[in-house]
Order: sequence, then C-alpha cells, then structure tokens
Amino acid sequence: MLTADVLNCSFPNWYTTFEKVTIPSTIIPLPEPVLEYLLEDAQLVLPVECNSENMDGVEDDYEDFGDINWEENTVSSELQQKSFSEFSRKITESLREMGGQMFIKLNWSSPKDATWIVFNNSLRCSSLSQLYLLLKSSDFIVHDLTRPFKFCIDEETVKPSVQYSLILRNWLDVNPGSEFRCFVKEEELIAICQRDNSNYYDHIAIQQESIKQDIISFFREHIKNKFPSADFVFDVIRTKKDKVILVDFNPFGETTEALFFSWDELRDSSLDLEFRFATDSSGVQPHPYRHYSIPQDFVDLSSGTDPNKLIDFINLKNRTEEQRQDSDSD
Ligand SMILES: Nc1ncnc2c1ncn2[C@@H]1O[C@H](COP(=O)(O)OP(=O)(O)OP(=O)(O)O)[C@@H](O)[C@H]1O
Ligand SMILES: [Mg+2]
Repeated sequence: MLTADVLNCSFPNWYTTFEKVTIPSTIIPLPEPVLEYLLEDAQLVLPVECNSENMDGVEDDYEDFGDINWEENTVSSELQQKSFSEFSRKITESLREMGGQMFIKLNWSSPKDATWIVFNNSLRCSSLSQLYLLLKSSDFIVHDLTRPFKFCIDEETVKPSVQYSLILRNWLDVNPGSEFRCFVKEEELIAICQRDNSNYYDHIAIQQESIKQDIISFFREHIKNKFPSADFVFDVIRTKKDKVILVDFNPFGETTEALFFSWDELRDSSLDLEFRFATDSSGVQPHPYRHYSIPQDFVDLSSGTDPNKLIDFINLKNRTEEQRQDSDSD
C-alpha cells in the first residue's frame, strides 16, 4: 500500500468521478483554525455558533435540554469558546438543504467510534452541536488528521500534504444487512464480505447469488478501470435487487478491516471471487466499537431534563478519563 493509494481513497479525490453512483454529498474545506480545534487535546468546549442553535426541524434529541448557556456552564472559566462562523454557516446551510439530517466524515473516516457522546447514539447528525461533539470525540477523526498514511510502505519517504475537508452526506436509513465490502486486487474483484460482521442475516444466505451478481455487475459497469489504484476496497449498499449504491473507497491493506477475511489471505490469494457472510449466529464477531461505549447509566444521565446534567456528564467523562490516564501511568 502506497501513500498514493490512500490519497486515491480520500473522499474529495474520488467523489466527482463516482458522483452518479454514490450518496449525494457536500465537501467543505476545513479552515486552519478548525483543524487546530479538532486536534486540540483540551477539554471539550463547543464553538460559539452552538450556543444559539435553532432546535427546530427534525431535531428532537435536544428538546428536553432547553437552551444551554455554554458560556456560564463551561467546565472551566479559563476555557475560551472558539468561533468558526463562516464554516458553521456553510454547515447549517447544507444541513437545511439535506432536509435537517446528515452523515458526516472527514477525508477517510467517519466518527463511528464516538456515537456514545451524542444522545441519539447514532451518526445521524441534525445540529451543529452534534457535529462538533462527534468530530471532537472520535479517535478515527484523529487518525485521519495525524496518521492517514500509517501502514504505507513509503510513509517515511513521501509526505504528501493533505487538503482536509468535512464531508456532509445526505442521510440514508441503512439496513446494515444490506451493506457489503468488496475487495479488488489487480483490477479484479476477488472477495465480497458482509459489512456488519457482528450480526447474522438470514436473507443474505437466501439471496447470496443475486447479491453477488448485482455487485459484480455494479463493479464492471461503474468501478472497474475507473478507480486510479489497482488494489483497493469499496463499500456498497444493496438496497434491493438490481440496486447498488457506492458508499466509500478504502485502501487495500491493514487500515481497512478485512472482516471475515484476513489481510494475509487477501494479499496471497488467487481467490476466485469468494463471498463470505455469517451462516448462523455462532460465527458473528463482537461489535467492533463496543469498547468505545460508556455504561448505560451515564447515557441515561445525559437524557434528563436539567441542562446542567450535560455538564455533569462531561465532567464525569473527564474525571473518568483522568483516572484512566493516572492508572495508565502508574
Ligand atoms: N449517508 C449515510 N447515511 C446513513 N448512514 C451512513 C451513510 N454513509 C455511511 N453510513 C453508515 O456508516 C457506516 C460507515 O460509513 P463509511 O464507510 O463512510 O465510514 P468509514 O469511517 O469510512 O468506515 P470504515 O472505516 O469501515 O471504512 C456505513 O457502514 C453505513 O452503515
Ligand atoms: Mg471507509
């Protein structure tokens, strides 16, 4: 895997070529101060634009909180709220155009490890506060910003500069049983895998031939020889028979989860297009982000009617984190 392969998977680099077969999206370049804010390791303080958020539209997760005055309630008085007015304005405008809900990611990763911090426990974003909370709380976002070329054999020699962007995508209600990861080696589709390896879906076994055929056709028609790397991984959603939507491209290597395959197997293989899926519930894997979850009691705490509970919640998180760091350094 080369840095060039990783760059080819960076959303802004492939979106225009595949716009017609993927989820409609908006690309907003990250201004330098936002980049710094995301990388800051300080306590979490949301930008000023979140103070006066209009909570109407489809947003119902916040209605119990009323208006949160972050200035009065911030965890520490010396912490200053930042302001990214133009950037936030663009986000709010896109959010409105997208009907009040969207999916967010950076060039490569979504903050899927951070859903515990937002109250709907989902990546469905319907406010600026949710968006900043998700981005600020995700290790995957930090990975994109700090070490996107990890595992590249030329990481030390080639150091490309990355234009970071926030990607806003129309929200789709995705059935995880309709998602598949597809592995391409030397321009050939060699493997297909059920994307959600923590559940068993009986419809996959029943429809396996037609799923495979739909994905092969989609690959031949829309992907093959159009993506600039010879080895890569693409994710799709097959919503129904003959209907496949492209979700994402990922590098062919360790940064991408191989799911029911292993990277050794995929790299060595002369696989003659193998399709793997759970055949009964005994083969499924534990949910990959379970260790990012916090106990249900903490989550319940955040859904109370008192806005101060949110601050309690964040304080509690901070204390837990400090204790963890203390015990790590012991
Ligand atoms: N537009 C969308 N609306 C709703 N859910 C989405 C949308 N796009 C992606 N998802 C869901 O989020 C998951 C992760 O999306 P995506 O593949 O873009 O993130 P990622 O961080 O690149 O993941 P990975 O690290 O596994 O490659 C998808 O499997 C899908 O379930
Ligand atoms: Mg991906």
